[in-house]
Amino acid sequence: MKKLRLVLFDPDMEYIELFTNYIRSSEHAARFDVKSFSQEGSFQQYIENGEQTDILLKATNDFHLNEEHTHIETTLHLVEETPENSTEKNLFKYQPLGQLITQVIAFHYERNGKKEKKKMQSSGETSVISVYSASGGAGKTTTAFHLANEMKQNGLEVFYLNLELINTNPFLFNVEDKSSSSPLLYYLKSNKDQLPSKLEDMIVVDDDTSIPFFYFLPSAEEMMDLNEQEIQLLIEQLVALQTYDYIVIDLDSTINSTVLTALKKSDHVLWLLSNDMYSFYKTSYLLEELHGFLNDGSFSDRVTLVLNRYTGAVDPKLADTAVEIDSYLPYIPEWKQLVSKEQLNNPVFAEYVEKLMHTFQKVGV
Ligand SMILES: Nc1ncnc2c1ncn2[C@@H]1O[C@H](COP(=O)(O)OP(=O)(O)OP(=O)(O)O)[C@@H](O)[C@H]1O
Ligand SMILES: [Mg+2]
Repeated sequence: MKKLRLVLFDPDMEYIELFTNYIRSSEHAARFDVKSFSQEGSFQQYIENGEQTDILLKATNDFHLNEEHTHIETTLHLVEETPENSTEKNLFKYQPLGQLITQVIAFHYERNGKKEKKKMQSSGETSVISVYSASGGAGKTTTAFHLANEMKQNGLEVFYLNLELINTNPFLFNVEDKSSSSPLLYYLKSNKDQLPSKLEDMIVVDDDTSIPFFYFLPSAEEMMDLNEQEIQLLIEQLVALQTYDYIVIDLDSTINSTVLTALKKSDHVLWLLSNDMYSFYKTSYLLEELHGFLNDGSFSDRVTLVLNRYTGAVDPKLADTAVEIDSYLPYIPEWKQLVSKEQLNNPVFAEYVEKLMHTFQKVGV
């Protein structure tokens, strides 16, 4: 994972020391490469050298930067009084450092995120992407949601299909005033002929993200009651609409007929791992066994192994296992305690998910 080059220019040596010590000892250590300057001369020299800089934090107005410094992506000012307008690039210097860093990261990524996203080329066909893991809580729902969001923002048509026993849709989307898609389960089970004409009416579109999804009221019993043919039919009918570039399926970490059918019907599987030995161990055995379960000797060719909650290094004990990680998603300290929908939209995570999306775009999935 590429570190962000952060440069702090502040004549106040004590603050520089506080700031750099904080970063070094915090969860952000792996994310930043920090350079600091207290002297105008050496700072000027650094600027003139034209080194690529992601974030410049400037605590003094004495030094003026010319507009042509295109090698600095984001410039933010540290101010000594609470700024009236937080949309300005002025951040209150003496707030708790953890909070300050969160604001710095958000400004940096939001600014970059606001760059016009290039509309991605649609292939005209629907690809099915499943997000799966061998153990629970690996970040499947978080990743599937961000993936659908990034696809949408890149001009692709995407459907988010949650097939968990208990879905968490009310925490991802605005479901107030939306009618449930549960009649779909009836058509799937008892009235298959009418399914094609009813399917589109059952789709709910989120007001905030514009992501379409089915709003099933949570019922493990109803979800368990769906058999292989019904899941297959549901996926095939969504593909047959010819509306979507991608269907992103959010699965449970188990092996049941729903999971096996979704994996069988998927063009690509994002298989998440956590930074622990259980997750690596279970992945290595289950991945192997799935070739047999799915009767598909090349199943792993369709799988991308993604290490989530990556902090910049993998312990050698994990690195030595037979599991070879293909891609990484960063640890987001702000999610230590997830209590609101608003917290979910994290620009750092979104940036990495967008990169992940481009990897399977390249292989034509
Ligand atoms: N990269 C990350 N950094 C920090 N916390 C994370 C990260 N990814 C996920 N989490 C947190 O881990 C918890 C579980 O995430 P999530 O619900 O997405 O996992 P899951 O694999 O869908 O779980 P389940 O198996 O129950 O469906 C959530 O609180 C989420 O905020
Ligand atoms: Mg989940």
